[in-house]
Amino acid sequence: RPKAGFARALLDWYDTSRRRLPWRAEPGEKPDPYRVWLSEIMLQQTTVATVMERFTRFVARFPTVTALAAAPLESVLAEWAGLGYYARARNLHACAREVAAKGGRFPDTAEALARLPGIGDYTAGAIAAIAFGRRAAAVDGNVERVMSRLHRFAEALPAARPKLRQLVEGLVPEDRPGDFAQGLMDLGSGICQPKTPNCRRCPVARFCDGAAAGDAALYPVKAAK
Ligand code: ADE
Repeated sequence: RPKAGFARALLDWYDTSRRRLPWRAEPGEKPDPYRVWLSEIMLQQTTVATVMERFTRFVARFPTVTALAAAPLESVLAEWAGLGYYARARNLHACAREVAAKGGRFPDTAEALARLPGIGDYTAGAIAAIAFGRRAAAVDGNVERVMSRLHRFAEALPAARPKLRQLVEGLVPEDRPGDFAQGLMDLGSGICQPKTPNCRRCPVARFCDGAAAGDAALYPVKAAK
């Protein structure tokens, strides 16, 4: 089935059903690239629930990228305690120092962001879209699952990864790419879940091949081990 209208429907749902998370700007507010970056790094390997408990305190202690860069690594590691994967905290500090050394502003394209320590393709796309309104795709496992179901994509992960990314890229709207990225995250977390697709509650079910066939739960196909 045709996908025209998918982005519009997702954005309309996001407007009424978005999660209120401490790192998200309220509607009409300008996002703060520092908060967007910090949250995306924290969310790489830590759950939303845990990051919610820790994000505000971290930002109170290190309110800007310049403040974070000026702090000793030890104090950053101490504030990171319990979040795990300490290489992330070291990269966080190295990234802050690099951004601070170049004037304290984050680069505003996915390509330039991906050159900074700790920022891979997913995180670069997320920051470019959410903080800077770039038409960039942020493709993680949740988004791959949504795309696999939307297209009943027969090819197995991980081989299907580049094609799934292209499918997302084709759907990102000119308008509000950051809300589109976060809408996909909220959809993957609250509706299109790994074991239960919840198609009857899904705001984009009318575009979805998996929902139409009634077998969305079978996707994504995993490679045989
Ligand atoms: N997971 C990764 N980034 C996220 C974000 N910005 N909001 C919610 N969940 C996320």
